[in-house]
Amino acid sequence: MNIKYNKEEQTFHLYNEKISYVMKVLLHGEIGHLYYGERLYGDSFAHMYYQKHYPSVSVYREVSGYSMSGMRQEYSSFGGTDFSVGSYTIRQANGSKLSEFEFQSFKVLEDKPKIPNLPSSSGKSLTLEIKLVDQLTKVSMYLYYTIFADSSVIARSTRFVNKSLSPLYLEHALSAQLDFDENDFNLVQLDGAWARERNITKRQIEQGRTIIESTLGASGHIQNPLMVLTKGNADEYQGQVYAMTLVYSGSFIGTVDVASHKRTRLSMGIHPLNFEWKLDDEFWTPEAILNYSSCGISNLTHEFHSFVRNNIMKLKPSFKRTKFLTNNWEATYFNFNGPQIIEIAKEAKKCGCEMFVLDDGWFGKRNDDTSSLGDWQVNEQKLQMSMATLSREIKDIGLDFGIWIEPEMISKESDLYKIHPELAIQTPNRRMSVGRKQFVLDFSNMDIVKSIFNQLTKVLDDIDFDYIKWDMNRNITEAYSVSLTPDCQGEFYHRYIMGVYRLYEMLYERYPNVIIEGCAGGGGRFDLGILAYSSQIWTSDDTDPVERLKTQFGTSILYPLASMVNHVSAVKNHQTGRVTSLDYKAAVAFFGNFGYEINFLELSDKEKIQIAKQMKFYDEYQDVFLKGKFYRLESPFEADSNLVSMMSVYNETSVVGIYTNLYQTNAPVRRVKLKGLDAKAQYHCSDGNTYYGSELMNIGYLVINATCGTSVFDFEHTGESDFSSTIIVLKKYKI
Ligand code: DGJ
Repeated sequence: MNIKYNKEEQTFHLYNEKISYVMKVLLHGEIGHLYYGERLYGDSFAHMYYQKHYPSVSVYREVSGYSMSGMRQEYSSFGGTDFSVGSYTIRQANGSKLSEFEFQSFKVLEDKPKIPNLPSSSGKSLTLEIKLVDQLTKVSMYLYYTIFADSSVIARSTRFVNKSLSPLYLEHALSAQLDFDENDFNLVQLDGAWARERNITKRQIEQGRTIIESTLGASGHIQNPLMVLTKGNADEYQGQVYAMTLVYSGSFIGTVDVASHKRTRLSMGIHPLNFEWKLDDEFWTPEAILNYSSCGISNLTHEFHSFVRNNIMKLKPSFKRTKFLTNNWEATYFNFNGPQIIEIAKEAKKCGCEMFVLDDGWFGKRNDDTSSLGDWQVNEQKLQMSMATLSREIKDIGLDFGIWIEPEMISKESDLYKIHPELAIQTPNRRMSVGRKQFVLDFSNMDIVKSIFNQLTKVLDDIDFDYIKWDMNRNITEAYSVSLTPDCQGEFYHRYIMGVYRLYEMLYERYPNVIIEGCAGGGGRFDLGILAYSSQIWTSDDTDPVERLKTQFGTSILYPLASMVNHVSAVKNHQTGRVTSLDYKAAVAFFGNFGYEINFLELSDKEKIQIAKQMKFYDEYQDVFLKGKFYRLESPFEADSNLVSMMSVYNETSVVGIYTNLYQTNAPVRRVKLKGLDAKAQYHCSDGNTYYGSELMNIGYLVINATCGTSVFDFEHTGESDFSSTIIVLKKYKI
């Protein structure tokens, strides 16, 4: 990787073996964008820069005949000759919002700067810092571009520094924009709702504005902070694809603006709604991650997965599987006591589980969701023992111990709220909305974060624990903080999420070896910001495998399988009432971070044997799931959503999951064309056959009927029926 500056023509070229990113300083010191894509060769690019001005729409600056209208830029502003929405706005003392930043200098940094109070990527890289200054306000703007060794990713962020004494306000400050000359793109986005997160939607980009966003105070269930632009007829396996995401967990906006003459602008950052930052020192935007693939979304996914694993999920460098855990949520919900938990744990241990995670309901007077959040005192009466005893008992069984918390919340019905109602987020003299009978604590106020930390440590210090599940079950309304002055209320949402990150840091400082699972009413805060702190996130509250196939397919576009917590739950699913076998459930859950959420006391002996085999299987192939290259083969979002398949390839071993949801009588021949194999190599297949990679990839693996194929462990039913799955393992043995 390298960063070159051509002084004569003022062009910057960031490149590695995979990509190039080229910019040029323009006439008035603006930074123009030339290119992001496959590696370019050569040192001179100015001649490639097209500076056409469109007389019918343009207004020219001064006498130069120079207009930004239609020009591709790196970080543009509104108010001058570019009529499109820009990336930032600074309101000045006289009310003006116009800025004219001009290039001053640059530096190439070998150590990637850390963004204060926010998570950001790290790893072997070079960073270009470009300094621009607005002469009138004396504000400096630093644009950061990081290129990594052997990755198609470019990480970007912007820092504003105000050295003047005048009060300035950042009204919006996005993380990055990426401009194109063409507009023949489709937008692939991940959207949904609670229990239906990150489904894949594709829509055509037209002239005008296309938006994805969250205004919830969290990245949210509704739209995930990922935008993938596919060019022309690009699809899963071919064509040019560009993507942008954020290392951020708060409200966000992502836009695609197509101006006249087709110029397309992809942008992302903090949502400007209710955002305003008093710039009396400096402000860093969250980091944006840009990615590019010249051969479809699948390759983009591979680039994303290795980047997220290596450069974002810093807490889990080895990618060994998490100990097999069972969580008692779907096993007991709120109805449990200590002795019963111990019995479930013993049974789970016999089947091969290695950790027990005690979910919601162990504190205050919490026997349902109506009370006690904020009262982090162990309910010994309910448990019939202390938490220290319970955790020790679990340890004595030979299991690790994990515990659920929801630190950002306060129940209306809680001692904390009775004494300190002011801790809950509220706007003075306005009504307070309740969600799941709870309010959100004002985490923009660091004193409140610290006091919750102190409460939690009183419980945690006393027990022997290895794992925390951090939940967050409602979004923010009536946003306001009494700790902020009226002119700083626009900082609330951003400060809130910085409070969340700070609590993560405080917990790790105190308990350095703990694993924290992220969760937000299922997958309501599944983003790279949380992944920098939680190396695994509960994917969805919907544990029905048919539904999960969709959520896992969507999630996998950006997020590695290692980040997705997948649990096998009761055969009759609690969310959908659908009955699917334990093996079908496992065959879906394998493609992630595998575990259980089931009452082991209610399982038959046969089911316990099945479960033990599942863990043995996952243990053997954990590297394939956690470190492999993942391929979406037959998508549940395609025309025949009934037939789904996926696979993961790690070194010599591949695991393929083939699913038939509704059984079809007299079904047509089904061949699943595999990917990522060595065409010339021969593979032993767990079905007893040997195949050439080329056969499996070009002719396809033959699925004779819905349940054909020999699994590596016995399936409960091998006859024809709904919801059947086949798992095959391929081992390369001869080239
Ligand atoms: C929502 C989570 O997603 C569930 O897994 C569970 O922990 C409940 N909250 C507990 O209230």
